[in-house]
Amino acid sequence: MRTHYCGELNTGHLDQEVTLVGWAHRRRDHGGVIFVDLRDREGRVQVVFDPDTEQTFATAERVRSEFVLQVVGRVRRRPEGTENPDLPTGEVEVLGKQLTIVNAAETPPFHLDDDTVSEEHRLRYRYVDLRRPEMLDRIRLRSTVTRELRYFLDNNGFLDIETPILTRATPEGARDYLVPSRTHPGEFFALPQSPQLFKQLLMIGGMDRYYQIVRCFRDEDLRADRQPEFTQLDIETSFMDENAIMTLMESMIRGVFDKVLGVKLDDPFPRMTYQEAMQRFGSDRPDLRVPLELVDVADLMQGVEFKVFSGPARDPDGRVAALRLPAGGQLTRKEIDEYTGFVAIYGAKGLAYIKVNELAKGREGLQSPILKFLPDEVIDAIMQRTGAEDGDLVFFGADKASVVNEALGALRVKLGEDRGVMVGEWKPLWVVDFPMFEWDDDNDRWMSLHHPFTSPKEEHLELLDSDPGACHSRAYDMVLNGTELGGGSMRIFRSEIQRRVFELLGISDEEAEDKFGFLLTALRYGCPPHGGLAFGLDRLVMLMSGAASIREVMAFPKTQTASCLLTSAPSAVSDAQLAELNIRLRKPPEKGGS
Ligand code: AMO
Ligand code: AMP
Repeated sequence: MRTHYCGELNTGHLDQEVTLVGWAHRRRDHGGVIFVDLRDREGRVQVVFDPDTEQTFATAERVRSEFVLQVVGRVRRRPEGTENPDLPTGEVEVLGKQLTIVNAAETPPFHLDDDTVSEEHRLRYRYVDLRRPEMLDRIRLRSTVTRELRYFLDNNGFLDIETPILTRATPEGARDYLVPSRTHPGEFFALPQSPQLFKQLLMIGGMDRYYQIVRCFRDEDLRADRQPEFTQLDIETSFMDENAIMTLMESMIRGVFDKVLGVKLDDPFPRMTYQEAMQRFGSDRPDLRVPLELVDVADLMQGVEFKVFSGPARDPDGRVAALRLPAGGQLTRKEIDEYTGFVAIYGAKGLAYIKVNELAKGREGLQSPILKFLPDEVIDAIMQRTGAEDGDLVFFGADKASVVNEALGALRVKLGEDRGVMVGEWKPLWVVDFPMFEWDDDNDRWMSLHHPFTSPKEEHLELLDSDPGACHSRAYDMVLNGTELGGGSMRIFRSEIQRRVFELLGISDEEAEDKFGFLLTALRYGCPPHGGLAFGLDRLVMLMSGAASIREVMAFPKTQTASCLLTSAPSAVSDAQLAELNIRLRKPPEKGGS
């Protein structure tokens, strides 16, 4: 239907007759001439209809926004002074000779140039939203990125292998999406939270190097970088250790950034232990663009009068940390109150601070509601340890370590963004040396920090019995600009160790046999040492495109409440369908509820 894309026309096409198809982006009547901006995937071009071609002109008068058109015309240079330097085709226009309205369109729900449209409206009419150049660019970037990833993996001996979607639960820490079985009444499939167990079975099956771009399903609280179904680049290898895997994977990511964005990432990526990341940044996915760090001051606070500090300072699970903001003395009272409100989201009960006006004056040169509780030597030591200078402000967090880490960890990123102190554009790193387990206070038991198939460090095997909390795993996370891009580990490949880990996690022998019997059996039939990782593809593309949410890089994402506004899924089903599945609802669904 076309000879050229609208967006590709330039002065190289002058005087050529072209046939274009696309959508009417805008129509303007200008004293006897009609201009239509014709748009397709590759961009847009101005088409001019003048009254000399009577019938065509009459058709052009009927054109409205988003009509689908076919135009035959001649490319000509725009008259001097009317070029549009903002448009790649802005030096030329097409003089329309024939115009066909291929399909009319109702008045669109929003104009494509309108950037005030709510996300809800955009999602409801996603097919219109997708026509916007920003969306097109991101979807195209996504396609380019997956092509480059596949290219790299194909060239490195990885086989692309599909795994089942209707399967058993894989424990990645979220709730499962369940699918009732018609042929086995009362039984359910679970949609995979990841292909974790299948990829391990593929290694036992001798596939050596596997990858898959695969959908994963997790029923969990959604955020800007979390969707109920999302895409992983999932990878597993045999006979490679963590160093080899990390080296290969970072070269893949470096290659993609270089080829797609022309960005050279660090070579190699820095590596940081979990312990150091928590200590310095309060987070296991530190944004290294923010040059602010947490500094421990608990040892200084043990004896102070101020209970808010001395309590956590003496608590083995507590933490008292300071965060210095250079030039933070400029913060107003109102801004400090806002930050106090911000850290409250993370459970912090307050946000103490000291303004450093003039260090040389000692106590007199400082300003803070908590000064009166702190002796001179403590104040001096704080100033020294944080490296405070005149004009700075030092924040404090005191609570359970987990609360302080979350609160000050988030505050440092927020300050980094708000105060414009970010350094560098791309800061990748590996976080390594994770604890195997963390204690779950609510359920009074150990939980895997990664997943239950992650191998403990060989030299920590004995700690499984004596001190599980001190046992480190062979897991690694790739972090970029404060986002966990991917994570993986060396796996347990001996049946006996897998059993011990299940036991520690409170999974009984019977339960292990019931849920993971197939894995435990498979581990006994010649399992190679293996490991791998999975990248969040949506997150990777989100970062590369500069989008604020992964919804912006998915063609048809779901809302924060895990529904699809376009198709109105999930939805009620007929009684007949329920009966066929042997399911009776406890109460009928509310009408219109989602
Ligand atoms: P993990 O659970 O860390 O590991 O997931 C791997 C990566 O997937 C991305 N991700 C998500 N992206 C969008 N929405 C979500 N709800 C979501 N959840 C996770 C993140 C994360 O780093 N089987 C293991 C991997 C392995 O051990 O090989 C796994 O799934 O970017
Ligand atoms: P208060 O004695 O409650 O008025 O608190 C004095 C200062 O300490 C205020 O600036 C509070 O914001 C701050 N504060 C209170 N609790 C904490 C806490 N857990 N961590 C850090 N600062 C706190």
